Amino acid sequence: MKFLVIFCSFLLFGACTKITAEENDFVQKTCGLNVTKQDPITERKNYTFFVAVYFRTHFMHRGEPTPYTYTMPGVIISPKHIAIQKYCESNHRQLLKFDFDFILIDKKFDAARKFVDPFSKITILFGCSNANHVKMMILTLKKPLQLNKDVGLACLSNSTKNWLGIYDQLVFGADVSGFMTYKDYFPVACAGDTPLVCGRAAFFEDGICNKDTGGCSFAEVNKRMTLLGIFVSGTIDCAFSSAGITRSVFLNVARYTEEICNATGVCINLDSTKLVTTTSGSKE
Ligand SMILES: *[C@@H]1O[C@H](CO)[C@@H](O)[C@H](O)[C@H]1NC(C)=O
Ligand SMILES: *[C@@H]1O[C@H](CO)[C@@H](O)[C@H](O)[C@H]1NC(C)=O
Ligand SMILES: *[C@@H]1O[C@H](CO)[C@@H](O)[C@H](O)[C@H]1NC(C)=O
Ligand SMILES: *[C@@H]1O[C@H](CO)[C@@H](O)[C@H](O)[C@H]1NC(C)=O
Repeated sequence: MKFLVIFCSFLLFGACTKITAEENDFVQKTCGLNVTKQDPITERKNYTFFVAVYFRTHFMHRGEPTPYTYTMPGVIISPKHIAIQKYCESNHRQLLKFDFDFILIDKKFDAARKFVDPFSKITILFGCSNANHVKMMILTLKKPLQLNKDVGLACLSNSTKNWLGIYDQLVFGADVSGFMTYKDYFPVACAGDTPLVCGRAAFFEDGICNKDTGGCSFAEVNKRMTLLGIFVSGTIDCAFSSAGITRSVFLNVARYTEEICNATGVCINLDSTKLVTTTSGSKE
């Protein structure tokens, strides 16, 4: 009962959930560029690929299904796709609803929010099994987003080495008062060769909170804003000392670009290394 792998509320054509090769060319050319807003009023939430995903689920409380509403940071990776930390429902999953919003400075979290149900498909990479740490899911929009000065795309990291190689990272998520925002982070070493990587807030007491929200880590790679990591675990109170927690854990997104490509049609060019192999292979 605990394993919600994929659910589709509106899946008419498999093809409509992926972008085409032409659309992917467009995504690869434009992602990560011009993604900061110029308007100073929006300064707190400057990045146009950053959205708040809302979800509502029902838990049984004194025998009654009782609604709970949450929000989590998501990132626009194509006009049809939003990447986000995975959420696995443990019961009453048929009552789970999703919605999203662009991040607006004055927008307060609204527990009574009306849900418009904008997604046609929810894909949880590797499902909900606890045996792996791949905490990522992809929401497919029924109607593609119009890209403009307020709505942009983030690129996907094309190398697992980007994580430790880039000192200046931004982690998007909820601050201690529950507002969506972003904070400066830097990478720190984690044990072992797992899909997980670690980071820490540059200002010790001022990180992103691990309530229901998690976060996503970004940095500029070749002058484009690039999604490096999806939040896995961290601190409840946003600080990196009180609870003895010294780092947050993220999924290294670059490790799953093939899965993302299969699920969405958003395919980064990983071929620079493969091409060399193919060429030398064919010469032999
Ligand atoms: C992006 O910004 C650059 C300069 O910052 C500008 O020349 C270019 O036209 C912009 N592109 C789009 C699609 O807005
Ligand atoms: C927001 O964007 C403006 C214009 O690009 C920039 O001057 C400002 O520093 C940015 N603010 C933050 C907090 O990144
Ligand atoms: C992606 O899809 C291709 C073609 O269906 C398949 O061969 C490959 O194993 C898939 N890759 C992953 C990582 O799922
Ligand atoms: C990642 O992309 C950049 C810019 O497009 C390129 O220079 C670099 O070689 C790529 N890295 C890999 C591992 O493909």
